[in-house]
Amino acid sequence: MPGTCVIGLQWGDEAKGKIVDRLTREHDFVVRYQGGANAGHTVVVGDQVYKLSLLPSGILTPGVTCVIASGVVVNPARVIEELDDLAKRGAGYPENLRISDRAHVIFPWHFAEDRALDKSTSDGENIGTTGRGIGPCYRDKVGRAHAIRLGDMYRSTFRSQVEHVVAAKNRVLEVLYPPGEFKPLDASQIFREYTGYAERLRPHVCDTTELLLTAAEEGKRLLFEGAQGALLDVDHGTYPFVTSSNSSGVGIASGSGVPGRHINRCIGIVKAYSTRVGGGPFPTEQDNPTGQYLRDRGNEYGTVTRRPRRCGWLDAVALRYTSRLSGVDMLAVMLLDVLSGLETLQVCTAYEIDGKTSVRFPSHVDDLRRAKPVYETLPGWKEEITGCRTYEALPANARAYLRRIGELVKQPVGMVSVGPEREQTIVVSKM
Ligand code: IMP
Repeated sequence: MPGTCVIGLQWGDEAKGKIVDRLTREHDFVVRYQGGANAGHTVVVGDQVYKLSLLPSGILTPGVTCVIASGVVVNPARVIEELDDLAKRGAGYPENLRISDRAHVIFPWHFAEDRALDKSTSDGENIGTTGRGIGPCYRDKVGRAHAIRLGDMYRSTFRSQVEHVVAAKNRVLEVLYPPGEFKPLDASQIFREYTGYAERLRPHVCDTTELLLTAAEEGKRLLFEGAQGALLDVDHGTYPFVTSSNSSGVGIASGSGVPGRHINRCIGIVKAYSTRVGGGPFPTEQDNPTGQYLRDRGNEYGTVTRRPRRCGWLDAVALRYTSRLSGVDMLAVMLLDVLSGLETLQVCTAYEIDGKTSVRFPSHVDDLRRAKPVYETLPGWKEEITGCRTYEALPANARAYLRRIGELVKQPVGMVSVGPEREQTIVVSKM
């Protein structure tokens, strides 16, 4: 069972791309299985910074097959852009990219719906989506009547499918937008544009479910790359302030077609503090100079949208919950260097809700909104740690902080990142 998965345990942006990039060399396949171009994965190789949205982070490692599996919602224009960008920058053209013919395709109407609907959760607070059409595409997938999959684009029925969906979407969008603001979509133009994309992607499109099942049965080493974070999981996250896919570990089997029994290692990625983009409750948020300090030092601005991220202290209640949910057996603590210079650090160890203290992560967003964090204070460290290459080289207080995270989440810290470069990663053998 040589399968590994990498799952973000917070609200996304935990720097998963860096760990995936590192583990890629030990694997034959790297698989994206949920989400779409709402993700933003940064991989730094030498002086080159690659920002990937849809291509698996393993794409920069030669010899590895990269798979965009059936659970991903694919914006074909974006895939082509990323492929061209890699080729232009001398990273080579990744011949070994495979995209599922079952994956659902993002069309212009999904962007238009995303823009129109984001402002309207039932309690009035915006979700603050990335505007990449993700939710509307997943809604059509489940609804079935107006969905188009990648494999459909190679069939003679594609034109009539587009015409059918555009006619329906034009009626809906006309109602969703204020009078006169919506310009009807043109089916012929969309058909032409997407036929072009389909031709470009043809060499990459196949039945990835079959490909991955065969690979797993042959004992090939599979690496599953989660996008977003477990707290954004549509079923188990901070609903409705979530994304539209299963971004915790529970999404791997449904999104890739590979059963969990082929995975024997699950690495939970944890940023050394917390961040969140968009709306929704965030109990440990620091909307104050501490939050600004984290934002400045961590360059906490969205990879995809450049929105400033909300910043706060580490939340061990949430982490314990998401690590159990995802079946994590090891933690990688990222961006530890950002915390240098803080006098003290706070870690949330429980919530107080209506006078009761609990370590259970609430299932309803209203309860999470009322949760007051119970903090434990730990001493900080002054030293910059970006040059540390071993666990022993870290300041004693940084080691104590990591140890406490391991104790609270009840999983060992196996890796620590102290900067964006590949070399700025510490493998912890003993704490
Ligand atoms: P959507 O995925 O664009 O529908 O956005 C839903 C929510 O998930 C919003 O709060 C987004 O900010 C958040 N989100 C989506 N993708 C990411 C990501 O890759 N990192 C962090 N937050 C994300």
